[in-house]
Amino acid sequence: MEYMTKVNRKRLVIGMSGASGAPLGIELLKIVREHPEWETHLVISKGAEETIIQETAYEPREVMNLADKAYSIKDIGASIASGTFKTEGMIIVPCSMKTVAGIVCGYSDNLLLRAADVTIKERRNLVIVARECPLSTIHLRNMLSLSELGATIMPPMITYYNKPTSMEDLNRHIIGKILDRFGIQVNGFRRWGEISTG
Ligand SMILES: Cc1cc2nc3c(=O)[nH]c(=O)nc-3n(C[C@H](O)[C@H](O)[C@H](O)COP(=O)(O)O)c2cc1C
Repeated sequence: MEYMTKVNRKRLVIGMSGASGAPLGIELLKIVREHPEWETHLVISKGAEETIIQETAYEPREVMNLADKAYSIKDIGASIASGTFKTEGMIIVPCSMKTVAGIVCGYSDNLLLRAADVTIKERRNLVIVARECPLSTIHLRNMLSLSELGATIMPPMITYYNKPTSMEDLNRHIIGKILDRFGIQVNGFRRWGEISTG
């Protein structure tokens, strides 16, 4: 296998905020680790620390260890806070409505919000896996604003046409769709047209 130095790896910023769906963020980090040409830069909000504890068997520190580099939410001087630090873009998975609102307003008082602000100002790929149910008019307006700014709004919606039989199938399908935005292949992601209907 061709040796790839750290210098020419593609950088992907991953934010996790306090919406339900911490297992999605964890699974996504594990899948990107299977792609040595990618380097992950992770920031986890205080809200996400809580959902990780509530929804998974992981400690926040263990999740941070899944990334190539992880930052404190308070570290607003970190590399990912600057547009000069080249990345391919950012995924926020899961993304709370509070974080959606913070991004819309440009209210960058933590590193996750600042990294998202940078991604927008540098016109890079921003994928927001926003989750709340039901969605209020405030949530919908904020998500529309982000979409108009060029972000991809990708709530973790259930898909049935791939005939999921487990939570893992459901997670893998949405992660396949998220990582498609960056050209990262997910094993077992079943695309329409490639699914046997027999
Ligand atoms: C178990 C749990 C599940 C939650 N689920 C959601 C959710 O699905 N969507 C959401 O917007 N907020 C949810 N919240 C509330 C957010 O965590 C809370 O608003 C927090 O302040 C968000 O801050 P952050 O965006 O900085 O992480 C949840 C909280 C807990 C403890």
